[in-house]
Parts: sequence; C-alpha cells; structure tokens
Amino acid sequence: MRDPRVVLVPLAGLALAGAVWAGSVWLDDGPPPPPPRPAVPVVLTAADAPRLYARYGCLGCHGAAGDGNFPLTKSREHFPTDAALAAFILDARATKPDTTMPTWAHVISDAELAVLVAHVRSLDAPPAAVGNPAATP
Ligand code: HEC
Repeated sequence: MRDPRVVLVPLAGLALAGAVWAGSVWLDDGPPPPPPRPAVPVVLTAADAPRLYARYGCLGCHGAAGDGNFPLTKSREHFPTDAALAAFILDARATKPDTTMPTWAHVISDAELAVLVAHVRSLDAPPAAVGNPAATP
C-alpha cells in the first residue's frame, strides 16, 4: 500500500498552482478602469436658446417668434439695456407686481439668462434704420 501523502501532496500543489493561475487571470484580464472624466465647464451658446426658451415656458406665453399672447418685439423700446431686460426676465414682479409673468430668480442660471436675453433681443424688431437712405421710401 502506497503512502497517501505521495498522492495528496502533489494534488495539493496542483490545486494551489491552479488557484494562483486563476487569480492572476482574474486580476489581469479585468476590464481597465474607465479614465477619469475631465471636468467639462457648462458652456451655453445661442444654439441652446430654443431649448431654454421652451424649457422655461417662454415659448408658450410669448410664441416662437416673440409674437405670442404677450409679444416680445419691443424689448429694445421697453428695456434699452441688456441689464434691465435681464432683471425683468429674472423677476418681472419686482417691476410689475401685478404681472402674470413668472419669477425665475433662483431657477434660471446666469449663463442661461444671458442666452435668453440675447434670444429675446433677436426676436425684437430690428432697430430703426436711422440715416439710411435705402431704408426710406
Ligand atoms: C405664464 C406666461 C409667461 C411665461 C411662462 C413667461 N412670460 Fe414673459 N411675460 C408674460 C407676460 C404676461 C408679460 C407682460 C408683462 C406685463 O406687462 O405685465 C411678459 C413680459 C415679458 C417681457 C417684457 C416684454 C416687453 O417688451 O415689455 C419679456 C422680455 C419676457 N416676458 C420674457 C420672458 C422669458 C425670457 C420667459 C422665459 C424664461 C418668459 N417671459 C416666460 C408672461 C409669461
């Protein structure tokens, strides 16, 4: 009869080698960790205007071309400076307490406000062509 250790010791060695091999495969072949995402600053452009204009409901009350129930085609006349226009959009009730225009303070970010101001300006009638003979009939 053979000493059982003659069989068991090599078997244990094989099992150990197998475990080490499997471990190394598991460690080596895992998917590489994804690279850290670079911090992308939020940059808004005029291309974002229609989305923001719809998202904050401006579209519903003022229409796509500013020709809705409450026209936006005289913003230059009513708000000569962008700062005044921005202040009104942000908190219309501060200027007109009885208006139904919602207040957007703490909702619209500065970057979004700048895009919306530019968009409202683009809906305005073009400034009168003063001193342009081609424009006078
Ligand atoms: C619930 C309807 C409603 C929504 C939504 C709304 N507004 Fe208004 N808005 C009004 C009303 C009503 C007035 C007219 C204020 C007044 O004279 O009482 C107004 C006025 C304005 C004016 C001034 C127009 C002028 O020449 O006198 C601007 C500019 C304006 N809104 C921009 C916006 C923008 C930008 C948004 C979206 C962020 C927006 N509004 C969302 C109802 C709305």
